[in-house]
Amino acid sequence: MHLAIIMDGNGRWAKQKGLKRIEGHKKGAEVAKEITIYCANHPEIEILTLYAFSTENWKRPKAEVEFLMKLLDNWLKKELDTFIKNEVKFEAIGDISKFSKQLQDRINYTKEKTKNFTRLTQVLALNYGSKDEITRAVKKLIEKKEEITPQNIQKNLDLPVDVDLLIRTSGEIRVSNFLLWQIAYAEMFFTKTLWPDFTTKELDKIIKEFKQRERRFGGI
Ligand code: FPP
Repeated sequence: MHLAIIMDGNGRWAKQKGLKRIEGHKKGAEVAKEITIYCANHPEIEILTLYAFSTENWKRPKAEVEFLMKLLDNWLKKELDTFIKNEVKFEAIGDISKFSKQLQDRINYTKEKTKNFTRLTQVLALNYGSKDEITRAVKKLIEKKEEITPQNIQKNLDLPVDVDLLIRTSGEIRVSNFLLWQIAYAEMFFTKTLWPDFTTKELDKIIKEFKQRERRFGGI
């Protein structure tokens, strides 16, 4: 099973508590760790994809963008141990060439160190946008002079795996350019909980509800 999460609401969580927005991101990063451990130990979850930075997030104030970059770098450094202990393979999707050399090296190092693990694949979407991903996939087919078919487009995506369950926190009911192709038949859950307050207990409840849903994939 492929679980994808739009981790939203860090800023509002901080504001509610009278804290700076970056405090929300810090707490959010801790929650991302807990959710990763939960998924690695869940018998059915094979892939966990987290939306960490979108192609639109560059529009935020420079200081917040810089903080998010630093947080990501520190998180990958700190959680390498967590990945190893829980046998998590780390992968990244999106165009990371816009990141600093240091962060790109960190991403590649983490990928390399965890590439043989199979308990869970954790994918971070970084400078990711789904329209950009689909466009790049089609361009690759044209360059290779291959036929434009749904199968061939899918094969050339950064993440060529359909999503089974999509969760968005913080009460917003939209998908914000995240895995548009891959969510074609995904079940979707929108919770009002802000990401820093999201728990493995709530995830567990959503997964149980997901299993109750009848998925027909267009059939009857
Ligand atoms: C949405 O909250 C969150 C982001 C744009 C970034 C996601 C980052 C994290 C959860 C922390 C870092 C994660 C890792 C894996 C290191 P928002 O700022 O849009 O919140 P708001 O809508 O309330 O303002």
